[in-house]
Amino acid sequence: MALHITPLESVGVEVSGFDITQAMGDALKSELISLWDEHAIVVFRGQNVDPKSQIEFSRTFGPLATHPIKETTSAEHPELFMLVNEPEKEKYHTASYNGELVVGRLDWHMDLHYTGKPNRGALLRSVVCAEKDGLTGFADLSKAYDALDADTKSLLEKIEVAYCFSMQRRHMRYVDLEGYEPGPYSPTKPADVNFPNFPDVAYPAVVTHPVTGRKVLEIADQFLDRIVAPHEADLCNDEAIELLERLVAHTRRPEFHYFHEWQEGDMVLWDNWRVTHCATGTPPGVQRVIHRTTIEGGTTLGRVL
Ligand SMILES: [Fe+2]
Repeated sequence: MALHITPLESVGVEVSGFDITQAMGDALKSELISLWDEHAIVVFRGQNVDPKSQIEFSRTFGPLATHPIKETTSAEHPELFMLVNEPEKEKYHTASYNGELVVGRLDWHMDLHYTGKPNRGALLRSVVCAEKDGLTGFADLSKAYDALDADTKSLLEKIEVAYCFSMQRRHMRYVDLEGYEPGPYSPTKPADVNFPNFPDVAYPAVVTHPVTGRKVLEIADQFLDRIVAPHEADLCNDEAIELLERLVAHTRRPEFHYFHEWQEGDMVLWDNWRVTHCATGTPPGVQRVIHRTTIEGGTTLGRVL
């Protein structure tokens, strides 16, 4: 059986033509891995998946990580991280955007980026689809890098970018704060959600992907804070801030994006060393269940400051 590969609108591909419930040979496995390496965002639809087969399938792409927070992990399957909109808990994830309440909206980020050692990748599966909104966006930062002009590319070779972990969105410097108000139950410090007090981390502004060798523009809105020692690249502080503003605007261009509208059973696999993702969130009271498996990142890409 040959794989059927359909490019998505701007970035990523949809892959069908195999059956996840059947044992996969090595040839099929390596074909799937190559597609993931090449396209970074891979959508699978219409597969008959359960938690066990999701875990088994995810192992194709590398060893799986378990999540440190027990509350969100399946007791039966520790590799399964469950994102569930529940009426009792959603108030903690609710904020106001232009006067409307939204649950679970997340800015562009890479998972575990704030530790310096992001996951290699992850696979999301929709178990219960939100009846409204609840999209997941993906941005291909290798394509974003490729589209930069030569002067910017050579300037970025000399630059490191620092990320500063914070629980309060209004403390993040490069997210769009217009019309934003935190909710009354929004966490205000990491300890509120049992997170440690993470130190700042720095990344080269351009990271070379350890597996594919492709260059990645290491700019994610969430926690982005500053250019480290801009004077070393002959930049004053004002120029450094303007450069980050320009790079953030660049990564927000729709030609680098794919927004997935979930249907039941859909799976999306992405390369977390190359792709940022975001969540549009849902209106309050909307049921949504997503199961995530996470492919471990064996390589440290950033450095703790
Ligand atoms: Fe995430």
